[in-house]
Amino acid sequence: MSLTSSPRPLASHNKGALTGTIRVPGDKSISHRAMMFGAMALGRTTVSGLLDGDDVLATGAAMVALGAKVERVGAQWQIDGVGVGGFTEPQADLDFGNAGTGARLTMGLVGAYPFTTRFVGDASLSSRPMKRVLDPLRAIGVEVVEHHDNRMPIALRGPKTPSPIDYRVPMASAQVKSCVLLAGLVIPGTTRVVEPILTRDHTEKMLEGFGADITIETDDEGVRTITVQGLPELRGQHIEVPGDPSSAAFPLVAALIVPGSDIVIENVLLNPTRTGVIDTLIEMGGDITIENRRISAGEEIADLRVRHSRLKGVVVPPERAPSMIDEYPVLAVAASFAEGRTEMTGLDELRVKESDRLAAVARGLEANGVVCEEGHDYLIVDGTGSVPGGGTVATHLDHRIAMSFLVMGMASDRPVTVDDDRMIATSFPSFMEDFTRMGAGFEAGEAK
Ligand code: S3P
Repeated sequence: MSLTSSPRPLASHNKGALTGTIRVPGDKSISHRAMMFGAMALGRTTVSGLLDGDDVLATGAAMVALGAKVERVGAQWQIDGVGVGGFTEPQADLDFGNAGTGARLTMGLVGAYPFTTRFVGDASLSSRPMKRVLDPLRAIGVEVVEHHDNRMPIALRGPKTPSPIDYRVPMASAQVKSCVLLAGLVIPGTTRVVEPILTRDHTEKMLEGFGADITIETDDEGVRTITVQGLPELRGQHIEVPGDPSSAAFPLVAALIVPGSDIVIENVLLNPTRTGVIDTLIEMGGDITIENRRISAGEEIADLRVRHSRLKGVVVPPERAPSMIDEYPVLAVAASFAEGRTEMTGLDELRVKESDRLAAVARGLEANGVVCEEGHDYLIVDGTGSVPGGGTVATHLDHRIAMSFLVMGMASDRPVTVDDDRMIATSFPSFMEDFTRMGAGFEAGEAK
C-alpha cells in the first residue's frame, strides 16, 4: 500500500464486556503463499477464505505483473498460473507496500530468473533488513543490481545458470527458509535447507500439496533438513485458508482482559508452529476452551471459546518464540493486566519486524502507566491487575502495534490512543467493525 493519506489516530475505551462470535480473516502467511504458488503452478488455483488485506493484495498484484491472472470471483479468488519457469519480466517495479513476507518470498520466487525485477515498499518495509535473503540468493548466482545497504529498493537479476545450494538458515525465519526453497524450484538439481529451529511450515506443506518433490528429515535435536528438486510440475489446487491465529490473538486477549466478556472465535488455524500464544495465555490462567476441532485442507482448525479471566504473570520460554513471534505485542498487553511479572526472552527477531516491536511495545506500555523493562532481546512486564491507560502510542507503520494497544484501551482505566490506524488494513481490514459488533468502543483520536 502506498500511503498517500495522513496518519489517522484512533482511540479505544472501556465500554464493558465483549460478547458474541467473531470469524477472524484468513491466515496471512497462507494467503500470500496461495497467491504465489497459484501463480507458479500450471492451471487454475481457487482460494476461499483468502485474507484480502493490503499485504496480500500487493502480492497478488506482483503475481499479475509477473504474468499470472488473478481475479476475485464472488467470495473466491481464482489464480491462473504460468507453470514453474514461466514468469515473465515485469514492466514496472513490484510494490509490496508494508509486506515483508510478500517481498522476501517473491525475491526467492523470481530471483533466479534471468531478468531484472525491482522491489519497492513503504517506509517501514524499506528500512527492514534484506541481507538475510540476499545472502543465499547471491550464493545461487543472483546479481543484486541495486540495494541500499541491503535494504529496499532492491533490484535482482538471475544468472544464466543458477546453482542449487545447501543453506543453513542462520536465524529463526520462515521467510528466509521459504525464499531459498522457492528459488530452488527453478534451479535444476537439489536445493537443501537446514533449519535448526522449527518455524512455521506452510511453505513445505503447501508445496507438497501442489505436487512439489519435497522431503523433510528431522534429527534427534530437532534440526530439520528440507530438500526440493528443481523444475517440478506444479498443478493448480483448491485452497481453504483457515482463520489467522495471529489475528485471533487480538479478540483472544481482549476477551480475557475485559471483565464479563464471553466470546467465540471461529475457524482458527491450530498448526503447532503458530499456537504459542494460546499455550501461554492458558498458562497465565486464561479461560480458553478449544471446541469443535477438525481438519480442513490438511490443517487442524477449531473454535475458541474465551471468557474473562484473572491472569497471572508467567515466564515464557525462549524456544517458544518462533511459534508466537507476531503475538508478543498483544501478549505484553495481556501481561499488563495480569498479576505479577511476565518475562519474555529470546525476542531478538522482534526488532526487525514491521517496526522495532520490542521498543515500540515498551514505549507504548510506559505511555499507559505499565512498568516494564526492555533488554536487547527481552521484555519484562510487571502487571498489577489493571492499567491506567490515557497514553498515546507511536505505531511506526506497524499494524500489530496499533491493534495491540487498541485492545489495551478496551480494558484500561482511561482510553488508549494509537497515532495511526491505517496499517490495520494490511492484515485485519474488519478489525473495527468486528470489535464494535462485540461491544468495543472506538473514537477518532486527536492528531498530535
Ligand atoms: C512469516 C514469517 C515470520 C512472521 C511474518 C510471516 C511468513 O517472519 O513474523 O509475519 O509468512 O513466513 P520471519 O520469517 O521474519 O520470522
